[in-house]
Amino acid sequence: MHKNSSKKYRPFPPVSLPDRQWPDRVLTRAPVWCSVDLRDGNQALAVPMNVSQKLELFQTLVKIGFKEIEVGFPSASNTEFAFNRRLIEENRAPADVWLQVLVQAREDLIERTVESLAGAKKAIIHLYNSTSPAQRRIVFGMSKREIIQVAARGATWIKERLPRLKGTEVMLQYSPESFSATEVEFAKEISEAVMDIWQPTPKRKMILNLPDTVEVAMPNVYADQIEWVCRNIKNRESLIVSVHTHNDRNTGVAATELGLLAGAERVEGTLFGNGERTGNLDIVTVALNLYQHGIDPRLDFTDLNSIIEVYERCTGMTVPPRQPYAGELVFTAFSGSHQDAIRKGLNEWKNDRQTSWDVPYLTIDPTDIGREYREVIRVNSQSGKGGVAYLLESQFGIELPKEMQREFGPIANDAVDKLGREVSAAELKQMFWREYIERVTPWQLKTFETESKSGVVRCRAKLLRKGKPVEISGEGNGPLAALVHGFGKVGVPRFEITAYSEHALSSGEEAAAIAYIQIKHANGQTRWGAGVDTNIELASVRAVVSALNRS
Ligand code: KIV
Ligand code: ZN
Repeated sequence: MHKNSSKKYRPFPPVSLPDRQWPDRVLTRAPVWCSVDLRDGNQALAVPMNVSQKLELFQTLVKIGFKEIEVGFPSASNTEFAFNRRLIEENRAPADVWLQVLVQAREDLIERTVESLAGAKKAIIHLYNSTSPAQRRIVFGMSKREIIQVAARGATWIKERLPRLKGTEVMLQYSPESFSATEVEFAKEISEAVMDIWQPTPKRKMILNLPDTVEVAMPNVYADQIEWVCRNIKNRESLIVSVHTHNDRNTGVAATELGLLAGAERVEGTLFGNGERTGNLDIVTVALNLYQHGIDPRLDFTDLNSIIEVYERCTGMTVPPRQPYAGELVFTAFSGSHQDAIRKGLNEWKNDRQTSWDVPYLTIDPTDIGREYREVIRVNSQSGKGGVAYLLESQFGIELPKEMQREFGPIANDAVDKLGREVSAAELKQMFWREYIERVTPWQLKTFETESKSGVVRCRAKLLRKGKPVEISGEGNGPLAALVHGFGKVGVPRFEITAYSEHALSSGEEAAAIAYIQIKHANGQTRWGAGVDTNIELASVRAVVSALNRS
């Protein structure tokens, strides 16, 4: 990198708009959405979609609820032309869906584009030419006047051909491409020149699309540019102002949202932000951001997983794991404190659906878009006892007492840390089994019998101590008290039982009961043990032996 970047790059000139209104506004309804997946998105693929892939994605877009879909650049290739013809001839577009086609300001291309639309029910013809100083100077070598003439000629050639589209409801769209890098005054001038030819009215509006073709400034600057045009252009009421952002500075979503605050009423973008370079605007994110604020987005992502599946298959792209709303990991918490908070939030939500959604760390309910709660919690070395306990309970019905969670949580974390990766619930259960249930040294229980007389319980147990047989007997007011007494008689230092709980294990190979016992030694040290058996009394005896083995 340059030591002094100001020698190579320059700041972006701000728009003069001291009384800007957009910062005080809030969004209250969804914009008109236009998907450009089949055109802008498709142009950015290493291997562009074939006709059948485009058809499948088109159908998915219709199902999501898009009413305006830019289906291609029909004059650019035979495939693009053929695709448009199939949509129309096979009557694939519902009556309320507009087919949008893009075209440059060249007469032969406009001719072919109009041809491709014959028989369409609703069509948007989208004319563009590039307007920024760099494009004018470097790419076209044209003056501002000549660039305006290009747009005006294109607008005229389209207008002249409209009578040929009888039976088609046509809407016209103009984009000063590279708008965000263009002087606002010039963007207004060229747009008005096109308006002079197309003569839009409040009843027959035209779309003025103001693209952030390359994101060159912060999103507030784009908002200023949009508000400036909305306030200064003539006949604003005859226009549908549209935003089309790309994502070069990773703020495409923010630029679109601020652009809407600034007065735009229509949004162009793609599913998951596919598009040239860093991509187009991710429409899924903007729509679900509105949904998160209680605004009906008028796009349906109830089955987001199927949409991802079709998208990935048709485009060959993948949705990254941290993609907002759609990524595999976005409803997963790795940190223990997050897991704990989510668990509490989900419980509150389950118990009191009168309140609105307020679950920490989850901006929306994953199930609203076909994702699952079970994706929320997994365990890695950062997970706290809460996550570990949740997983054991939710997956295996193992309800560790709170205090035991405090003992097992760090043990599990250490083990996961050593593995250096996430662990599954089954692996976590294995850890628990190894730590508590399967310990056989120094003590291993072989048999345990009791008899009771006049309120006194006597026990006899056969055990192995470091592999050598030992028989113990003791008495007390219950089997466990008798066992503790018996251990004392064979020289085990004194200990007492300080906590006990048990429950049935719901399923699994054990089909049994599990008991948890805490013992306290004379020196004050405590240890937990756990035992599993089909007989609840034996489960608790095993739990005592487990606790002793862990001392
Ligand atoms: O990014 C862009 O400017 C475009 C135009 C053709 C609208 O895709
Ligand atoms: Zn674009």
